[in-house]
Amino acid sequence: MSGDTAMPEVDVYRLTRSLHLLRLKDRETRFFEGLWEIPEGVTYNSYVLTGSEGAVVFDTWKGKWSGVFLEALRGIVDPRDVKYLVVHHMEPDHSGALRQLVGEADPIVLGHPLTKGMIESFYGLTPRFKPVGDGERVTLGDVDLVFHHTPWLHWPETIMTYVAGEGALLSCDAFGAFGVFNEVWADELGEAGWERYMWYMKKYFANVIGTYHEWVVKNIEKLSSRGVAPSLILPSHGLLLRGSRLQHAIEKYLAWGRGLPEQGKTLLVYTSMYGFVERIVEVVRDYFASKGRRLVVAGFTDGGRVDLSDVISEAYDAESIVFATATYEADVHPLMRHVASVIARKTPGGRKTAVIAIYGWGGRAGRVMEELLRNAGFNVVGVVEFKAGEEGRNRDKIIGLLESL
Ligand code: FEO
Repeated sequence: MSGDTAMPEVDVYRLTRSLHLLRLKDRETRFFEGLWEIPEGVTYNSYVLTGSEGAVVFDTWKGKWSGVFLEALRGIVDPRDVKYLVVHHMEPDHSGALRQLVGEADPIVLGHPLTKGMIESFYGLTPRFKPVGDGERVTLGDVDLVFHHTPWLHWPETIMTYVAGEGALLSCDAFGAFGVFNEVWADELGEAGWERYMWYMKKYFANVIGTYHEWVVKNIEKLSSRGVAPSLILPSHGLLLRGSRLQHAIEKYLAWGRGLPEQGKTLLVYTSMYGFVERIVEVVRDYFASKGRRLVVAGFTDGGRVDLSDVISEAYDAESIVFATATYEADVHPLMRHVASVIARKTPGGRKTAVIAIYGWGGRAGRVMEELLRNAGFNVVGVVEFKAGEEGRNRDKIIGLLESL
């Protein structure tokens, strides 16, 4: 069901001589992609370039705000003067207002060859469409645009635009972040704000494009080999990057893309039905505290749950992961199966993992977890499984397991 929504907050900023930002602050979406909890909200950034041959719009917003998008656009140009719409990516958080814009402005749509068919099926439209090649340069009067195919950042049809005269790379999902901010540029944040912002950038990376992390490195290296050295990175979510913050973001992107873990970081993920697993969590906490090792704990219990999106972010760069689970109907607790499956899907393989499982009347969860993790490419160092309440007599086994991480 959908209901009336409050008027969202919209920002329009002039960024350079010819580029404007059109930004919608979405504080309504609770589950990005219907999956990821985002209490911090998200922005959709569209860009408008005004040149001698008319205006170019780069991406739009989520479809429910199509009318607001057109209204904001009118603050910069008459939509009838929009000659081109560049579609970097067809996921509807960016292409949602395309139908209304095409209806009002009839622009020539520029995009990846795959984009045309998606527009036809998603929106029932056959706009004037010009596919752009990988590395193709298109001159529109006094504006020089170079298009680069950047597959899997985030879908196969994703492209980026380099606005040569402005040194600006319009990067779409790449270098984007969750969160709603008053600032426009990331360098307006202080150090603490930047650190928090990098958490939101990692959260977007890990949850949304982490599965395709190897393509991050391939695409950055491709752009670099083509001499693309932007002074501005303008993503489709979050704040805009320049100067040292831009360099830092590229470094982090390369590290995440290479799947490099944070040395010494262990994540403990657990499900507990009646508190027995939480007693094991205390054993694990005590062990890590005694060794002075960093442990991040994420629990799903009868009293509360952490956000899965935060767990995915923590798992992404953990050096090792401990899964502690209750048994449910002689199987892994269903919530642990779900959480572990999503972690397995989003986290680079090869990480050391350990499993601790408890049961009331029949143990099998440990073996099932081991198989799930091995099949996902993790290095399972061991499984310890015992009856609920017997963590005292199994303490040495638990400690031995943790020592092998
Ligand atoms: Fe922000 Fe893949 O969409």
